[in-house]
Amino acid sequence: MALRITVIGTGYLGATHAAAMAELGFEVLGLDVVPEKVEMLGAGRVPMYEPGLEELLRKHVEGIEGSTGRLRFTTSPEEVAAFGDVHFVCVNTPQKHGEYACDMSYVDAAFESLAPHLTRPTLVVGKSTVPVGSAARLAARLAELAPAGADAELAWNPEFLREGFAVNDTLHPDRIVVGVASERAEKLLREVYAVPVAEGSPFVVTDFPTAELVKTAANSFLATKISFINAMAEVCEAADGDVKKLAEAIGHDERIGSKFLRAGIGFGGGCLPKDIRAFMARAGELGADQALTFLREVDSINMRRRGHMVELAREAVGGDSFLGKRVAVLGATFKPDSDDVRDSPALNVAGQIHLQGGQVTVFDPKGMENARQLFPTLGYADTALDAVRGADVVLHLTEWREFRELDPTALGEVVSRRIILDGRNALDSELWRGAGWTYRAMGRPRA
Ligand code: UDX
Repeated sequence: MALRITVIGTGYLGATHAAAMAELGFEVLGLDVVPEKVEMLGAGRVPMYEPGLEELLRKHVEGIEGSTGRLRFTTSPEEVAAFGDVHFVCVNTPQKHGEYACDMSYVDAAFESLAPHLTRPTLVVGKSTVPVGSAARLAARLAELAPAGADAELAWNPEFLREGFAVNDTLHPDRIVVGVASERAEKLLREVYAVPVAEGSPFVVTDFPTAELVKTAANSFLATKISFINAMAEVCEAADGDVKKLAEAIGHDERIGSKFLRAGIGFGGGCLPKDIRAFMARAGELGADQALTFLREVDSINMRRRGHMVELAREAVGGDSFLGKRVAVLGATFKPDSDDVRDSPALNVAGQIHLQGGQVTVFDPKGMENARQLFPTLGYADTALDAVRGADVVLHLTEWREFRELDPTALGEVVSRRIILDGRNALDSELWRGAGWTYRAMGRPRA
């Protein structure tokens, strides 16, 4: 009989994983502790914006016309324990308030609520990003709590999906990494991932700590790459060089590669910033803090980008202060094709300018609701055109396609002054300059 799969936690990761598992042909039960979320998902609606996810969900959720009926949702850990052969734990591990370390309370709660109901052979698979050593600790806890004893086993299977591409990344992963303690666990996971592996996804088998570390190492590398190019942007600005050309040129070297070399206001989101901090905190606990001191620099280069954008904006509105100045902000999410505003560089810049007395108006194609919740005191507009009306300076801070397709001439007619600062190096500078704008980007000549 085909394996029955459960997914615990239905955020970006869990909701996508649940729908993808149903797409791969498994019977799936998703669990969340928030009843409203379970209700929404059960009705085929996704509580966040993720391209393609709602379609995939509706294709499989039980009770939707024409669906396979392979996917259901519940709030009951008992039901999940009774249903599943393989349980994926996909809850989030945010940064602890005021600390670098990550908050494991959701992961711990998921294990504590599930384990006492595990009465038959099962595999519990951790997917959340956790400090190295967590899997070993959770395996011991599982052995203590599960009535099935050693038959309720743990594996670690980090997830590398990117928001905005979550469906594709889950169905066609670059690689599948599994940390296992037995052949049985490996065999079960090979069965779960048989389709992507047959399609060519490499399957890397390792131990618990290496599996946990692969995830934090990958995210640290990506963060380092972005901060490296942003450091080059700082030097380019000082030397009147062009970081975009520089990135293009070094990217032709296959050893360097052209991806993740887009300079701008830096990285944000629910993963890279908190993952590098949690990694530093954990390395400190392990006595290996020196190995990761460079990540402190990666973090500080990144945070400096936001302050630098505020400085450029202040300069653009006359130099001294933002008082009485109107600042239009295009973009609120931490990247395009997402409604996620967690640790968003765009909103951080908007917030700083607002705190310094600027009259800020924000527009974002998908992130307005989340932005309003996080920063209720900022001004918001319903369209890009409305946001820039009367602006003394326009800041382009998230590179949505919609912004790249804006008509600079039309916008030029409603602003107070035609100055645009491109915090993502993504607009067509010639087009904007041609329409009479002063266009300035980070790490590039002023001309
Ligand atoms: C990241 C990892 O890519 C993914 O593998 C992991 O599972 C979770 O964390 P995500 O947070 O969805 O994914 O976004 P990503 O596309 O990596 O972008 C992160 C941030 O870096 C964004 O704010 C983006 O704007 C910024 N970025 C990215 C740059 O500033 N420059 C770049 O060249 C690339």
